[in-house]
This record gives sequence, C-alpha cells and structure tokens, in this order.
Amino acid sequence: MSRKKISLIGGGQIGGNLALLCAQKELGDVVIYDIPNAEGMIKGKALDISQLTPLDGHDSNIVGSSNPEDLKDSDVVIITAGIPRKPGMNREDLLDINIKIITDVANNVKKYAPNAFVIVLSNPIDAIVYSFYKVSGFTKNKVVGMAGVLDSTRFKTFLAMETGYSKQDIQCMVLGGHGDTMVPITRLATIGGIPAEELISKERLDSIVERTRFGGGELVKLFGNGSAYYAPAASAIEMAESYLKDKKRVLPCAALCEGEFDVNGFFIGVPTVIGSNGIEKILEFNLKSSEKTELEKTLNAVKKTVKETKL
Ligand code: APR
Repeated sequence: MSRKKISLIGGGQIGGNLALLCAQKELGDVVIYDIPNAEGMIKGKALDISQLTPLDGHDSNIVGSSNPEDLKDSDVVIITAGIPRKPGMNREDLLDINIKIITDVANNVKKYAPNAFVIVLSNPIDAIVYSFYKVSGFTKNKVVGMAGVLDSTRFKTFLAMETGYSKQDIQCMVLGGHGDTMVPITRLATIGGIPAEELISKERLDSIVERTRFGGGELVKLFGNGSAYYAPAASAIEMAESYLKDKKRVLPCAALCEGEFDVNGFFIGVPTVIGSNGIEKILEFNLKSSEKTELEKTLNAVKKTVKETKL
C-alpha cells in the first residue's frame, strides 16, 4: 500500500501544527502549501519537522511548496488559508478577504486533487466551507468544516477543569454554527456516563457553556495577535485520521444538511460519521424544543453569512 498524501493549504500557525501532527501520527506524506510570499516560512517549517521525524522513528516526507501542482493526487486536503481574527474582529469581518482566498484555493483543489477529502478550517467556517463546496463542485460527502470537534473539546476541557475528573471520561457534543450562537447540548454532556447535570450545579454548568461559546474569543484576547492553533489543528487531525483509517468516528462537524434537523442546503454542525467515504452519515436525533429554538437561531446566523458570500 502506498503512503497517503495530505496537503495543508495555508502553512501558518494551524498549518504548521497540522504538519507536525501528521508527521507524529505517521498519517502520510505532507505538502505544506502557501502563497509565494510565505515560501521560505513553509519550506523552513517542512524542513524543521522533517528533522524531528528521525527522533520519532517516523518516515513521512514533508515538503513546503507554493506550486499548486504539488497538491496533485492528495488523499486529504486541510484548508487554513486566510487571515486569522484580530482582537475586536468577529469571524464575519473576515468574510470578504477569506471568500476571495477560498475561491482561488477551491479552483486549485478541484484541478489537482479532485478525489480528496477536504476539511475546511478558515473562518467564518460555515460560510467558507459552503463557498468551497459551491466553487469546487465536490460531492457533499467530501467537504466538511471543522468546528464542532473543537467546540466540544473546549467544553470537555472546562468540565474537567471544573470537576478535576479525567478528560478521558468526559463526553459532550456541540452543534450548530461555530460562533457565539453554537449549541452545546448540555443534557448530553456526561462524565463517566453520568449526566454532567447531575454532578455540577446548574449555575456552574451555565457558566461553562458560556465560556465554551466564547472559547475562541477568549484565546484571541489572550494572544493579542492571532487566534487558537494547537487545539484547532488536533481537532482537524482527528477528522482526517477517521477518514484515512476508516474509523467511522462519530464527530460533530459542519456538514451539508439536506433535511436533517430541518436544515436544508446549509453546512451546520451536526453529528457525523467519518469513514473512507468521507461524511458517510449524519446521525439525526430528537432535539428538545429549547434546543430546536437554539438551532434555528444559529441557522439564521449561518444563513446571514452565507448570503454575504453571494454564491
Ligand atoms: N493560498 C494558500 N495559503 C494562503 C492563501 C492562499 N490563497 N492566502 C493566505 N494564505 C496563508 C497565509 O499566507 C498564512 O500562512 O494562510 C496562512 C494562514 O495562517 P495564519 O495567518 O497563521 O492563520 P492560522 O492561525 O493558521 O488560522 C488560519 O483558520 O481558525 C481559522 O480563523 C482562522 O481563518 C483562520 C484560519
């Protein structure tokens, strides 16, 4: 079996960590692709990471390139191209610039890697993943946005910090858009299978949910110059790994809904199954009426940004 190929479009903060994780998990050979102005930086990152692989005993090849032909025949493409949020900027402010970038990227991926499974991270995610889908003409199972895995791991982290119990035993799910209107399904948060609602006071749980909602903004404020990159990279790798190894993980991702959860024609965070056919399934379940209301609210926010893409 030949080695898999993973192309990372955008070799900035998240892109660099994606490359590192691909190498350390030995997922395949890696191409870090960026604009010509960033060529030195990505070639440097690729070489630096290559030099750590002997320490791990791993054999992946990692290269940096600004030639789109080097994306040829990628199995997975992970897109972080764009500009990150600056303090005081919301995700929607980024839209105009990032739409132009994703159009350029989608045309290259369509041309050189038409069979890839594409994971989009660039913000505002719900609109950017939609734009990629529209411009590339890829089938819906091959295009997905990373948001829910990150929002859920943030929720898990805060629950672990609150209780002091192992992160390994915490499960939770965050649906909806990747913005302040995201929908953490609090009743489905469990610690060792026990509903978190029975272990943590309502007041504390509400504040954890609130912190999760603004989890990205909290980091933007702390960094002062850029947005989160370690956990976003690890979240995308979890999705890529499930595809490459046909693991059929059940992960909340921004997938194209066509009737599921009463959403039609939009990418929104829903529980998905990721295997060798990409997004193999959306797992629908009954929402409570308050959750439905929240999902409608998040859908309206997504629709608003998608409309601005004019695609
Ligand atoms: N093609 C390829 N790469 C591009 C293009 C393009 N057309 N335009 C910009 N880039 C590159 C930039 O040169 C930069 O190296 O995308 C990279 C983005 O990296 P960072 O600015 O470090 O941003 P990062 O923190 O990695 O976040 C990337 O993910 O979570 C989102 O909001 C975040 O939209 C942002 C994206």
